[in-house]
Amino acid sequence: MTVEDLYPVPAELAKSAWADKANYEAMYRASVEDPAAFWGEHGKRVDWIKPYTQVKDVSYDKDDLHIRWYYDGTLNVSYNCIDRHLETKGDRTAIIWEGDDPSDDKTLTYRELHEEVCKFSNVLKAQGIKKGDRVTLYMPMVVEAAVAMLACARIGAVHSIVFGGFSPDALAGRIRDCESNCVITADEGLRGGKTIPLKENTDKALESCPDCTTCIVIRRTGVETGWVAGRDVWYHEEMAKVDADCPPEEMNAEDPLFILYTSGSTGQPKGVLHTTGGYIVYAAMTHRYVFDYHDGDIYWCTADVGWVTGHSYIVYGPLANGATTLMFEGVPNYPTVSRFWEVCDKHQVNIFYTAPTAIRALMRDGDEPVRKTSRSSLRLLGSVGEPINPEAWRWYHEVVGDSRCPIVDTWWQTETGGILITPLPGATDLKPGSATRPFFGIDPIMVDNDGKVLEGACEGVLCIKDSWPGQMRTVYGDHERFYQTYFATFPGRYFTGDGARRDEDGYYWITGRVDDVINVSGHRMGTAEVESALVAHDKVSEAAVVGYPHDIKGQGIYAYVTLTAGVESTEELRTELAKWVRQEIGPIATPDLIQWAPGLPKTRSGKIMRRILRKVAENEYGSLGDTSTLADPAVVDELIENRMNR
Ligand code: WT7
Repeated sequence: MTVEDLYPVPAELAKSAWADKANYEAMYRASVEDPAAFWGEHGKRVDWIKPYTQVKDVSYDKDDLHIRWYYDGTLNVSYNCIDRHLETKGDRTAIIWEGDDPSDDKTLTYRELHEEVCKFSNVLKAQGIKKGDRVTLYMPMVVEAAVAMLACARIGAVHSIVFGGFSPDALAGRIRDCESNCVITADEGLRGGKTIPLKENTDKALESCPDCTTCIVIRRTGVETGWVAGRDVWYHEEMAKVDADCPPEEMNAEDPLFILYTSGSTGQPKGVLHTTGGYIVYAAMTHRYVFDYHDGDIYWCTADVGWVTGHSYIVYGPLANGATTLMFEGVPNYPTVSRFWEVCDKHQVNIFYTAPTAIRALMRDGDEPVRKTSRSSLRLLGSVGEPINPEAWRWYHEVVGDSRCPIVDTWWQTETGGILITPLPGATDLKPGSATRPFFGIDPIMVDNDGKVLEGACEGVLCIKDSWPGQMRTVYGDHERFYQTYFATFPGRYFTGDGARRDEDGYYWITGRVDDVINVSGHRMGTAEVESALVAHDKVSEAAVVGYPHDIKGQGIYAYVTLTAGVESTEELRTELAKWVRQEIGPIATPDLIQWAPGLPKTRSGKIMRRILRKVAENEYGSLGDTSTLADPAVVDELIENRMNR
């Protein structure tokens, strides 16, 4: 496999970028040698009401686990994302909104955003929402979602966004867990021409949430919905009653900014808590350097605000930098599979950030739908959410980016608040499939299963040695779980849950969650590796690989394969694919079982739910657990029906 081609930094980019190779090396060294000095300096990227004198106070000890940054400083995130730009950039576009329907769009300047946010802050106050209250957002990708986030931040309320694809039960569980007294939603969401009954779902959820006594509803489609008098109010009606004057609340750096629920390997979703000062410094700085953001650039991250990517890289990071950020309501293949690229042309997008799953899906439809668009405004591409296989990376680079645009493959997690391992476009030569090098202040350490630290080129479990300002501070309401999940496995360091390889150049290759690592006849293997090989075959569109109990080998390799449109699923092809993988990686990687899977079980954010695939592969489909977060639950029945290991 020719995976280790090097894509050097374009020379002009090295000159214009915020960091070239020399800058990166010098800043990186400084950042890990003296983190307090480094972050003390870069904390000045945001405006403080009362400047901090203390930078860092962190202990990962079991009995004293605490993480504090800039903790005697005060500031307001909404002020930093809006007010401070008004004098010089008041008329600059803050948000470009592109609706589900291509004829539906609008823009908001920083001044207009300021007015909306101040007014909505006053609406929240009028509804009795106070500093420290938890407010749940269950919203489509409309401008009001960003407005609501920033209004919460302005008055010191803590938002908890629940992705619009979650079920009423999932929503209710999250509302109860953080004891929200208010939920903000819309009558309906609109995606890919289909409506999502957000208000109806909220009504169902609130039946089991007696303490959530306010529901603010945005009118999106105008459909008739249920109405609970005394609880429900219309966004537009309340906005008409308030004025646009709302001074930002003075917040301590360590006051909570938001909670975001995320799944762990066990138990109920955890409420990941992020705080104010460190989070905004880290989101702003990573956005600036990783996307090499310069004044006037049009930046588009295709995520949903329901995920951390939407928090840090649609709203907080870009707006803290005074950027123009595009919010997209729709999906990549509606009305056609050219939509992403048409939107790039329409709004002259310079920086485009999406997920490998979207790239692979679009790749299936060939080059034509991409080639027919211009994309000449694009300068930089980004990837996030899962390892991007070299095959998809190259297609993204050659076809989408016309071999012109560097790709930043950004590795991070809900827990990390911002990007931790990533190329910097002016500083890092790229290797397809590698997230490359650590960001400033991030000291990755590789350990083996016994916690022994590995040096040089190696493969192991990825931990982070020290803290960084954007790190989560606790699991909401369960500090013990915070310790157990992230600090108990390898005491004294942050355990990421990911496996990785570090090559001789110090580049990191994330191999996937360690619970996805399989052991075949004593050989350790990343399922991502086998998948990458499978999707490199031209008849394969997507593949997911898991381990299953095997009498002789310990674990066998079970592959779920989605074929390219129009390809027939024959026994010959099964043999051909097994042989192909054997050739690509080696005999130990040969799949034992290949199941044809017209669809894979994915969350609404596009993450494949391997837990389900493992269960089906183990022939244990009676105990699949919660499948409520799947984009299409019917996929599971199909998989069970055609399982190979009976
Ligand atoms: C997990 C975190 C980060 C925002 C979206 C996902 C995987 C994420 C990459 C990448 C390889 C990646 C990891 C990580 N992941 N980005 N560039 N390369 N793997 O956030 O839902 O908290 O998931 O996503 O396994 O642990 P999340």
